[in-house]
Amino acid sequence: MTADLTDLLAKVRIVPVLTVPDATTAAPLAEALAAGGARCAEVTFRTPDAEQVVKAMAAQGDLVVGAGTVLTAEQAERAVAAGARFLVSPGLDDEVIVAARELGVPVAPGVATATELMRAVKAGLDTVKLFPAQPLGGRAMLRALAAPFPGVRFMPTGGIDAAALPGYLAEPSVLAVGGSWMATPALLKSRDYAEIRRLTAEAVKGSMT
Ligand code: 3PG
Repeated sequence: MTADLTDLLAKVRIVPVLTVPDATTAAPLAEALAAGGARCAEVTFRTPDAEQVVKAMAAQGDLVVGAGTVLTAEQAERAVAAGARFLVSPGLDDEVIVAARELGVPVAPGVATATELMRAVKAGLDTVKLFPAQPLGGRAMLRALAAPFPGVRFMPTGGIDAAALPGYLAEPSVLAVGGSWMATPALLKSRDYAEIRRLTAEAVKGSMT
């Protein structure tokens, strides 16, 4: 079920996490991210406009658009109907995993403990989000948690910035890194697309080192 997500994340390496307050910013935002070299984006379901943002960004066609902060089956359905090609959750929830399976889209649930990882593996998943990666203990935590699960690959997210990116990507268990540092809520609010583009390009460059 997660094979295509594994491939996608291995290819893109960076997943900008977007909490977009206003759907009118979706098109220029997608343009800025793509111009910076991003190939994928995660739109969080934390704002009332999230569904419209997914729709607009997916329609534009430059990025593979997924939905983040998916907490319920109902949100999963709305996200996929709007064009989301993958789902991300902050935690591990059976309802969301089952919904994703029924909808035919891959899901990366968040895990923070070995117990949650065991549940994810039992649910048939091999790609998970490590959340919140930095506060949990960063790369040392990731390495220790990944060791007993050689078949699992991670998307660390939470508190990561441009400086920490190459270190995470150097970890063999890491497929891709997620984060909002390329398009922070403040940059989205001020519609500073030039800066979003610059930070995205910097991250893309960092992902290649
Ligand atoms: C998420 O939803 O994945 C996180 O909020 C992103 O984490 P960051 O804002 O610390 O990058």
